[in-house]
Amino acid sequence: MKHVNVGILGLGTVGTGAAKILKKNAALITKRTGCPIRLKKAADVDRSRTRGLSLPECVYTNDAASVISDPEIDIVVELIGGLEPARSLVLQALKNGKHVVTANKALLSHHGAELYAAAARHGVEIAFEASVAGGIPIIRTIREGFAPDRILKFYGILNGTSNYILSRMTDEGADFATVLRDAQDKGYAEADPAFDIEGIDTLHKLCILIELGYGIRVDYRKIYTEGISRITSLDIEHARELGYRIKLLAICRRAGSLIDARVHPTLVPEQHMLAQVHRTFNAIFLETADVGPTMFYGRGAGMLPTGSAVVADIMAIARTMRSACTHRVPLPLADASGSGLRLQPVKDIQSRYYLRLSVDDRPGVLSRIAGVLGRNRISISSVIQKGRTSRGGATVPIFMLTHEARESDMQNAMRQINRLALVRQKTMLIRIADEISGE
Ligand code: HSE
Repeated sequence: MKHVNVGILGLGTVGTGAAKILKKNAALITKRTGCPIRLKKAADVDRSRTRGLSLPECVYTNDAASVISDPEIDIVVELIGGLEPARSLVLQALKNGKHVVTANKALLSHHGAELYAAAARHGVEIAFEASVAGGIPIIRTIREGFAPDRILKFYGILNGTSNYILSRMTDEGADFATVLRDAQDKGYAEADPAFDIEGIDTLHKLCILIELGYGIRVDYRKIYTEGISRITSLDIEHARELGYRIKLLAICRRAGSLIDARVHPTLVPEQHMLAQVHRTFNAIFLETADVGPTMFYGRGAGMLPTGSAVVADIMAIARTMRSACTHRVPLPLADASGSGLRLQPVKDIQSRYYLRLSVDDRPGVLSRIAGVLGRNRISISSVIQKGRTSRGGATVPIFMLTHEARESDMQNAMRQINRLALVRQKTMLIRIADEISGE
């Protein structure tokens, strides 16, 4: 094979990174692939986004359709993001017999099954290493590294923007809005930053990992998802006093035929490795039946880390083209039938909980709250009250930790507590992940 031709759709941060790596590492890439990889076309409607990238003028186009129909292009790299036109372009590229590489987590979490099936039908590959945790090769690790093993559970810090916000709030007491602006300036945040801070980006990535790890297709709408926008410096400070760090986690635990999957801020014991993942870094702590616990850490976003994951996928496809052996590693849905696994409704999970209540500072308040918790079968493990003013009578925060309780009981208790006149603000509830172990 003389060379492999690539067409990129979307020259934003990731597209520019991939193009730069193809150029600057060309000799190494050729050696490790067994043939040169040539960027034949790069499509974008906005040329101003190409940060320091200089490609021959003939490579640029603003017509994505001309890339996916170009008979010389072997691999189409979709880096537009979002659902449409990305979905239609990828489907058409597959139909045209092109292999596809994508970093589009939203697309895969919504339409993965359709795209995997289309790739199989047309005898081409679809690869998506860059869609989860950027530069960390977690997709390849799950599909190939753990191929003979069974995943019992994993916990992921999968959104750099949220982790950056929480880290700076923890380290510097920085204010939420200022830190979010910084993350946007650094080019980490999604086009709509609500995707980052409300947990949606993490949810998209969790869906992809569940599908790969367990061979089941999950409906993202059924996964409990909560972001970090209600976390305050009070929560961070008290979590710390209690020996925890607050992290936005994607959680997935298998128990028999049930998959407990959710996304929410979580109190992580400070001695756990995940509590030490700071700033924009991502990490996945994973436990399998035979290997046991493993942890993967690295940059989850950014031009070169994510661009490198895209190029690794391009190289892997080029190698399969050379050996004329596609679908060497089957896609998740190929063997999903009859697994019998299903999502556990969040109301049925058991957890310990952290509560921050904002209440009137007067006698009897604590016993009213404890009464509601008790009637809902929730046992308190500790209580902290601080900040009483000399005059008394003010609103004060109360922090509580509970023993393990059932989520449905906790939700009932929350509704009853939030209706009490002595409760001045909606109670903050954060689940505690004491069960994570690294032993
Ligand atoms: N917005 C994402 C993040 C980019 O902050 O991690 C990588 O998917």
